[in-house]
Amino acid sequence: MMKIKRILIISLLFSMIISGCNSKKSNADVDQNDAQEEEIVDTHSNDGRTVVGISMPDMLLERWNRDGSFLKTQFENDGCEVILRFANNLIDTQANDLRYMIKNGADLLVITAVDGAALSGVLDEAAKANIKIIAYDRLLMDSDAVDYYVSFDNYQVGVLQANYVIDALQLNSTQKTFNIEFVSGDPVDNNARFFYGGAMDTLQPYIDAGTLQVLSNQTSFYETSTSQWSTDLAQQRLQIILNSYYPKGTIIDAVLCANDSTALGAARALEADYAEKNPVVITGQDGDIANIYNILNGVQSMTVFKAMDKESVVTADLGLAILAGKKPNSDLIDASNWDFDCDYNTTDYNNGVRTVSAYLLKPITITIDNIEEELFDTGYYSRNTSGLIYAVE
Ligand code: BGC
Repeated sequence: MMKIKRILIISLLFSMIISGCNSKKSNADVDQNDAQEEEIVDTHSNDGRTVVGISMPDMLLERWNRDGSFLKTQFENDGCEVILRFANNLIDTQANDLRYMIKNGADLLVITAVDGAALSGVLDEAAKANIKIIAYDRLLMDSDAVDYYVSFDNYQVGVLQANYVIDALQLNSTQKTFNIEFVSGDPVDNNARFFYGGAMDTLQPYIDAGTLQVLSNQTSFYETSTSQWSTDLAQQRLQIILNSYYPKGTIIDAVLCANDSTALGAARALEADYAEKNPVVITGQDGDIANIYNILNGVQSMTVFKAMDKESVVTADLGLAILAGKKPNSDLIDASNWDFDCDYNTTDYNNGVRTVSAYLLKPITITIDNIEEELFDTGYYSRNTSGLIYAVE
């Protein structure tokens, strides 16, 4: 795995906090399984520890396991104690996880919401206890308690997917009409609208010109959305579309899927209910292992990869800066020696109550042509002696 050099300046500035943490025995480093039995110690206080609560939405969607693990490592390397919990995609579980963290002395909460708008109450409780809050990857909505947002350029993810379709079908140099369907993400995930917006804004001119057509006529965000980013729901919806609008002899050229879990559903639907033999362009996002196999086997055309180790580096450096009483802005990027690009954005992420300052990393397109170089040679993934692919932690 690529080694990311830490920010020396930040490490020095905040060494007091960290050394305080290092000197104490960790009693907050608990995971989902033993958290229930853990005795609740105290509420947030100046007890010399720095406790970071990391609340991830779900273990079943592959990427959050990796995010959780990268974040835990980053904060622990900085001397913090970590409480890491996964919410099984349940709003109540996530709220309870956060209350547990608050009661156990959390100084900072790093949260990827199951439902971005459902946590306002518990976020208020945290803010009252002077706990800092970073929305991680997904924006926390309807709350003024959120301090910062760390994510990738979510709109650009959709643009990359759409540009891939434009290139693959050579839409700029054709007189033909191609058929496409859309599979969008979870409507309660604010990111899903950005992915959709980036893709639709880029493809709309081709739809207007008649170069692309959507035989199902389902083009709005809600019509194309997939609750909980579910593979099964994506598969079911596309099977219905194929059976209704693509009888034998009618070609589908592309399915623009917002991420890899929905792309898996699309691939399964095509396998089950599509009679023609043409290669169908399928987009995705994340680089989940099943999808990497599908790209290598020619079943999925591309994915958009977002380097979570880098997202966690930004989050940890930002978190330590906030805990040291700083109000970071673009100076955090200037002072860092990150070996990757990151933009500071103060305009695009309004959560319904206020615009949250965001640090946005850059997503990249992965295809059969660069997958070895970008995902294997860089050390994100490897193969065992039997050739099985695994993610390197
Ligand atoms: C993330 C995607 C992920 C999706 C489903 C989104 O919020 O940005 O990377 O595929 O959630 O977990």
